[in-house]
Amino acid sequence: MRIGIYPGSFDPVTFGHVDIILRSSKMFDLLIIAVLNNNVKKPLFSAEERVELIRQVTKNMRNVSVEAFDGLLIDFVKKKNASTIVRGLRAVSDFEYELQIAQTNHKMSSDIDTVFLTTSLEYSYLSSSIVREIASYNGDISKFVPKEIIPSILAKYNKSLD
Ligand code: PNS
Repeated sequence: MRIGIYPGSFDPVTFGHVDIILRSSKMFDLLIIAVLNNNVKKPLFSAEERVELIRQVTKNMRNVSVEAFDGLLIDFVKKKNASTIVRGLRAVSDFEYELQIAQTNHKMSSDIDTVFLTTSLEYSYLSSSIVREIASYNGDISKFVPKEIIPSILAKYNKSLD
């Protein structure tokens, strides 16, 4: 069974992430979305909330599951008996950081590889931080995130759809 791991902060999940999830899920028998539970970076959503939002968005995807992890990604990948990490690349500016963590992970565990999918052009500008910024000013985020999670995002800023 081929298991792929798609890790990230997903704070919150965006259409850019969904694009990578849809495309990479076709490459594996099981794609596990691994949500970083990071104590250092203070996220808008708790890890449990981020997992729940992604579950809502992926509920019709049969071979996709969602879990939180903390500690090293490579340890989570091994625990899940996976051998491939998936990351999305939006622009050249992503590349340097991604190359560094992919090579570090490969150095720590040489039987685990990272594959990169280039984000679809229509989402190449998009990031979770942009979504948080727009939502904080009560802007329309419907072009950036799936509609079912919009109320949860607005609620964080004490805003509502009306
Ligand atoms: O969505 P992000 O914030 O770009 O995702 C970054 C992530 C979660 C892939 C990365 O920070 C990560 O793997 N963190 C866990 C700690 C780790 O294993 N770091 C890589 C070795 S330096």
